[in-house]
Amino acid sequence: MRDINEYSITEAVVSSMTRCADARLQTILTSLVQHLHAFARDVRLTEDEWSKAIAFLTQVGDITDERRQEFILLSDTLGLSTLVMSQSTGKPASCTESTVFGPFFVDGAPIYHNGDDISNGARGAPCYVKGQVRGADGEAVGNAWIDVWQSDEDGFYDVQRLDDSHASSHRARGRLRTDAEGFFNFRTILAEAYPIPHDGPVGRMLAATGRHPWRPAHLHFRIEAPGFETLITQVFREGDRYLDSDVVFGVRSTLVADWIRHDPGIAPDGRRIEVPWYTLDYDFILNRAQILA
Ligand code: BEZ
Ligand code: FE
Repeated sequence: MRDINEYSITEAVVSSMTRCADARLQTILTSLVQHLHAFARDVRLTEDEWSKAIAFLTQVGDITDERRQEFILLSDTLGLSTLVMSQSTGKPASCTESTVFGPFFVDGAPIYHNGDDISNGARGAPCYVKGQVRGADGEAVGNAWIDVWQSDEDGFYDVQRLDDSHASSHRARGRLRTDAEGFFNFRTILAEAYPIPHDGPVGRMLAATGRHPWRPAHLHFRIEAPGFETLITQVFREGDRYLDSDVVFGVRSTLVADWIRHDPGIAPDGRRIEVPWYTLDYDFILNRAQILA
């Protein structure tokens, strides 16, 4: 194959992959090449612009390490994470909606019991969270594993605080199980709006396109139980100014809930709290796992 030009290049690349042993990989790469080429033709991409794009992607890779995942930020801010997630979850409307996972989940968070305080020293107004995990037919889902994680009042997740050693950095995150009737409850801190990390290439892209880096206040949940699809979602705080301009396009109306403010006084765990404190009551409905015939 010689003398490839701007018109014949697409077919040349596509035909070069016809011996691919993995049919799905071939489908994906063929479509990717076709769309990439169509995009370059559409905008009449110049060599200078393509060099800048490669430099940008290189910076995304360079800044990524075990604490910072700039590729997830890029996917999230370009709406790709939400698109991929939305087209792969075809659950009944009665089930709790999923939303983006984000880059701040960590494996091996501390295990807590119902009633425990998961903040572990993270700063923020006290907040008591409770709810029930059920299936779509109303059945209680006992012994489900709940992972919860959130930022502190300064808008930072523990993993973003570089002054912490790894050993002591599990703050405002944890794992706990629902009781036999599917109920759970824990104490944490109030979720606040925060900007996603924007001191890197993704932040520069946001600034260049006139976008702010903020996410509305939210709590992350991952809920796992045998026989049910794992639910990855977030609960958002009603009234937050960024609910309709979330930088990662993750807000669903059904996931917006009231965090109720209480004056100083006796909290649900019987303690006296001298500052305003909050409660969140939110139930989760899991989808039954599909049984493959
Ligand atoms: C988060 O909510 O933790 C998050 C989601 C997407 C990008 C950045 C942060
Ligand atoms: Fe978050």
